[in-house]
Amino acid sequence: MTTVSWKPRELPTQGARTLPREYFVSPEIYQEEMDRLFARRWVCVDREERLSRPGDYFLAEVAGESLILLRDRGSGLRAFFNVCRHRGSRLCEAPSGRFAETIQCPYHAWTYGLDGRLLGAPTMTDVEGFAKGDWPLRQAAVVSWEGFLLVNLAPDPEPFESAFAPLLGRFARFHLPALRVGRTIEYEVKANWKLIVQNYSECYHCAPVHPALTRLTPPTLGENDLTEGPFIGGYMVLAEAASSLTMSGRACGVPVGALAPEDHRRVYYYSISPNFLLSLHPDYVMFHTLWPQAVDRTRIRCHWLFHPDTLADPRFDIDDGVKFWDLTNRQDWHVCELSQLGVSSRAYVPGPYSRRESCSIAFDRDYLRAMGRG
Ligand code: FES
Ligand code: FE
Repeated sequence: MTTVSWKPRELPTQGARTLPREYFVSPEIYQEEMDRLFARRWVCVDREERLSRPGDYFLAEVAGESLILLRDRGSGLRAFFNVCRHRGSRLCEAPSGRFAETIQCPYHAWTYGLDGRLLGAPTMTDVEGFAKGDWPLRQAAVVSWEGFLLVNLAPDPEPFESAFAPLLGRFARFHLPALRVGRTIEYEVKANWKLIVQNYSECYHCAPVHPALTRLTPPTLGENDLTEGPFIGGYMVLAEAASSLTMSGRACGVPVGALAPEDHRRVYYYSISPNFLLSLHPDYVMFHTLWPQAVDRTRIRCHWLFHPDTLADPRFDIDDGVKFWDLTNRQDWHVCELSQLGVSSRAYVPGPYSRRESCSIAFDRDYLRAMGRG
């Protein structure tokens, strides 16, 4: 849903074409994406507030791997592969909950501490050379950034601080760690995950698809400020009569942070490769996480974050913002599903991008580079 892109200083868009059909229909390319992008880049799984107490956990599936995200007894964050070190059984089935002291495998009852150490392995003392210390749960890297939890499955992940350098400190005035989830809606979309990012990245479609959005943020007012690499986006400007993107056009909460005067007139949109879409409004922050299920299906979780004062004050109707984006999301998912149907056709050949789709072009460029084809 990002901004217009005709600025001459931006990257050239002339001649750019959409991706070929196989990128939207090939299970082999989909698997390669899981290996090269989802198993190597930092992937957003949820908010840290889901793990408020020691022992709290939830499961997340990233690149086909089940992970146990948990807060350990020392209040550290962990991301364990949900795989027993004995014969590999899935350890934990319930999607979320709280471990009392340990994690026990349902198969032969090997027991692990919340720090991943193997604490108990019945009768294994008989086995020559067996040492519990050699068999801790395997871990993925996990960080909390601005209240978001991100994991990286790579054995030797790019350090978060260097991977996210362009974003570090960028949103400080929005006080993101202090915000709380007010609403979450999950969508099942019959479209490849890239079509959803490409759609988010341009507002060329806004006039025909989103009449309400177009009234509140005219598609021709805005600017992109991240135009290359894994982070792409910018801002759009609110129409004079509007204070936010809500059904009423009025703010549905107190300002989320200590915003600059211009932030009160803008909505910022950033795609954070591969699965994280971050949309900052003056009075709420929306984020989507994309969970590819197959080459032609994506589960999308959309969360709305608010200042705690907004959530505590019954005079604020957060549904004013939630309903606006639920409507807009559904309009987007519909055209993404139409795209999936079309790009799957034998008749489809890559089409020419417009100059107002420069962020989609930049997404494709970064994607192809990450896939080793750029
Ligand atoms: Fe987990 Fe045997 S597979 S204890
Ligand atoms: Fe849209």
